[in-house]
Amino acid sequence: MDLGFPVPHPQSVIWRDDGLVLLDQRRLPTETVYLTLKTPEEVWTAIRDLAVRGAPAIGIAAAYGLYLGVRHVPEDDEAAFWRELDRVAAFLATARPTAVNLFWALDRMRKRAEAERGKPLAAVKVALLDEARALQREDAAVCRRIGEHLLTLLADGMGILTHCNAGGLATAAYGTALAPLYLAKERGWRLRVFADETRPVLQGARLTTYELQQAGIDVTLICDNMAGWVMKQGWVQAVIVGTDRVAANGDVANKIGTYSLAVLAKAHNIPFYVAAPTSSIDLATPTGADIPIEERPAHEVTEGFGRRTAPEGVQVYNPAFDVTPAELVTAIVTEHGIVRPPYPEALMRVVTESGG
Ligand code: MRU
Repeated sequence: MDLGFPVPHPQSVIWRDDGLVLLDQRRLPTETVYLTLKTPEEVWTAIRDLAVRGAPAIGIAAAYGLYLGVRHVPEDDEAAFWRELDRVAAFLATARPTAVNLFWALDRMRKRAEAERGKPLAAVKVALLDEARALQREDAAVCRRIGEHLLTLLADGMGILTHCNAGGLATAAYGTALAPLYLAKERGWRLRVFADETRPVLQGARLTTYELQQAGIDVTLICDNMAGWVMKQGWVQAVIVGTDRVAANGDVANKIGTYSLAVLAKAHNIPFYVAAPTSSIDLATPTGADIPIEERPAHEVTEGFGRRTAPEGVQVYNPAFDVTPAELVTAIVTEHGIVRPPYPEALMRVVTESGG
């Protein structure tokens, strides 16, 4: 898809007439494998098993998944079509619980279908595909704008620490937290990036270093437990992370380990920025305590490196996300600008202005 500007990294979600093509992120960085999905069940599994991951990319994949679910419904049975649309949307919404972009994207698709109600079903189907594509195109533009706003908080020569992968692979293009790094590169700045490994699924080690290295950006991989020491050396001037959901009070859910980083950043007097498209801001969720936190299988922790690293039968706690309290967040950077505390009013304003 032409996104309107060159994309400096591999694209993770591609629509083709024969189905939804996903770059299988579980296999990176050692293997480049594309999956072609033709059913919503396959899309659900790809989301659940992390073949596609990252909040915006999950939403985009689900939008195409919904289209896949209704595209072959006979066009002479109105009732069956709308029943199937409801059923597939409800089903896809169960793939993962934390990233609000999944529900946001499905909701947007349903609203588009509703707006077309009364037209021939063939036209409603065309509109649904059109909406999924629009969602993807808009996400790329949103990420670039987030990058531009974040860049105003940075300066040439800085050290940036990031966690997980909130990059191009997690979005339509550029990423959210990584977008300013691509824009800085375009402008000839030299930023030094530290990528947290991000146990247990290693999104930082496998994905962030991969995409930044391909783009020729200076990136250094560290284990998660090295972040404090790297900060202590004076090598980090800003922490930038993405988010799966921002609550109405400014609490931020993101990959497990983000909260610890925010505490470390505060201890070292380093600004802690959250890159958040407005599609990740959920005013219906009052505080971080109300955000459902996904727990994932134990084997991610006990066999994360392709071999057992813990005794059989050991108890494991494996939350995929944590919540960083709003008071540890220096600013939330959206496509509409930089949001600073007090967050409840500022988030309300930015979402209302964006028409959300
Ligand atoms: O479990 P994942 O890999 O989907 O978690 C991803 C993150 O936590 C990202 O930081 C977040 O989704 C933002 S992606 C722009």
